[in-house]
Amino acid sequence: MNRKAHDRILVLTGAGISAESGIRTFRDSDGLWEDHAIEDVATPEGFTKDPALVWSFYRERYNQAKAALPNAGHLALADLEARISSRFNLITQNVDGLHSIAGNKKVFEMHGSLYRAICTVCKTSVSMQSIKPDIALPLCPKCNSLLRPDVVWFHEVPYFISKIETLLKCCDLFLIVGTSGTVYPAAGFVMTAKYFGARTVAINMEAPKNLSVFDEFYQGNAATILPNLLSEIN
Ligand code: OAD
Ligand code: ZN
Repeated sequence: MNRKAHDRILVLTGAGISAESGIRTFRDSDGLWEDHAIEDVATPEGFTKDPALVWSFYRERYNQAKAALPNAGHLALADLEARISSRFNLITQNVDGLHSIAGNKKVFEMHGSLYRAICTVCKTSVSMQSIKPDIALPLCPKCNSLLRPDVVWFHEVPYFISKIETLLKCCDLFLIVGTSGTVYPAAGFVMTAKYFGARTVAINMEAPKNLSVFDEFYQGNAATILPNLLSEIN
């Protein structure tokens, strides 16, 4: 059987796909994340220094994500997976859960999820829904140690790295959406996919840092470009 150029599709998304859902991206705000320095709220050192500040910050992000709705870009990706199912995989750097809410099933949240906390000692996973909102420093229901948001911070290793490596090596089309291409390892995924023979396509508001590695670049809003672009794939 002849393989089509888009037989196995692997998508990598970043903050830009959630922009139309009202969630702010990172790099567009002068190195600040919702008015906080990245070192204070997105590093293990920041959490050690002031866990209450970090907890209140992620509670706000969680509440914001819960109130947000998937946009036409998320929905186009869910629709594509519904059509081509086993040939589709989605890696996201986003922690807002919007891909799953849109209906995507095979979502690899490499930077974790705002919807979960994890014990700093025994690694028990706890849903945010079960944590009382008025407790500044929530504790593990099993061992009573401090819980932390289950998001991957700078200087930490992302989730699903070995699965992602396998997916990158066997995809035919690698599509990145709404990511600046500045944060590794995700920024390097396109090199692996290209080296192993995939066609590489970027959809982004501005040229990604690693533009030269892409075979095609569609500049603009993912929420308007994706529905048209993906409707042609079957
Ligand atoms: P960035 O904020 O670095 O990049 C978002 C990209 O989306 C930018 O290049 C924008 O031009 C583009 N963009 C904005 N609105 C768009 C729209 N409507 N349609 C298409 N593109 C749009 O976010 P990420 O690349 O996701 O990591 O950042 C990667 C990681 O850095 C994050 O996961 C997070 C962050 O610090 C950690 O917290 C570990
Ligand atoms: Zn524990």
